[in-house]
Amino acid sequence: MAETTPTYERTVPRILMCEPTFFEVSYVINPWMTSHVHDTTAERAQRQWDALRETVQRHADVVIQPAAAGQPDMVFAANAGLVFGNSFVPSRFRYDERKGEEPHNHAYFARHGFDIVELPDGIFFEGAGDALFDRGTSRRLWMGHGHRSDLEAAPALARLLDIEVLPLRLADPRFYHLDTCFCPLADGYTLYFPAAFDADSLALIERHVAPAERITVDEHDAVAFACNAVNLGRVVILNRASPDLRARLEAAGFMVIEVALDEYMKSGGAAKCLTLRLDEAMDA
Ligand code: ARG
Repeated sequence: MAETTPTYERTVPRILMCEPTFFEVSYVINPWMTSHVHDTTAERAQRQWDALRETVQRHADVVIQPAAAGQPDMVFAANAGLVFGNSFVPSRFRYDERKGEEPHNHAYFARHGFDIVELPDGIFFEGAGDALFDRGTSRRLWMGHGHRSDLEAAPALARLLDIEVLPLRLADPRFYHLDTCFCPLADGYTLYFPAAFDADSLALIERHVAPAERITVDEHDAVAFACNAVNLGRVVILNRASPDLRARLEAAGFMVIEVALDEYMKSGGAAKCLTLRLDEAMDA
């Protein structure tokens, strides 16, 4: 008798990554970059990016965006913009150093069939680096502000996308994008570094995330970019996690995979920054 294959709904996540061809630290726009100008090697950066791509590819479809010469930070695909269903809200970078990425991202997403949804003029917003959907509902959007994105982006996104947006003020310059210190995980779990937020924002997190679902990291893990994690189902891909953090993630049912990304940490980014989820809220 022929074997029957069980049929079940399975959606493979889609992740965008931008080639590291032109990656380097050639200017300073966050504290991590300060002591690392011209301190990266292309070969090592390529190797680490390949390792991340191969790891992500085991759990998702990876789409590759070509890099643009003269845009060393374009490799951080999370900052291209925010995807919601078929809509793409392009980033408006705070610093001139990254503004040159904007036309490339606009063209790429338009060419790939996304509806381009523009924020009002004069609002800074750095895309999925500062805007993270709750993995459970995909309707609630956490938005970081205080360093790169403007608080005004929160009501604008709520209106444009018709979703609830919860703004969180980032208080520590080392954690200048929300995805450096906060990561919504499957089933409502949330990985975060409490000291990166002001008191009101911490209270907001605690109001929405039940105590048993809060996975807090200490400073040691935070500076190793443990919160800058790619969550695909029950898999969590990150630069490094201490044995204690790994144990707590595993107790919550997650499988932790480490991919060394120190070359990118010199620029202030790691696993999550190097990716952009393309199938966010596909029913929207
Ligand atoms: N050097 C880049 C910058 O400062 C790093 C961006 C990291 N991206 C992120 N989503 N956290 O803009």
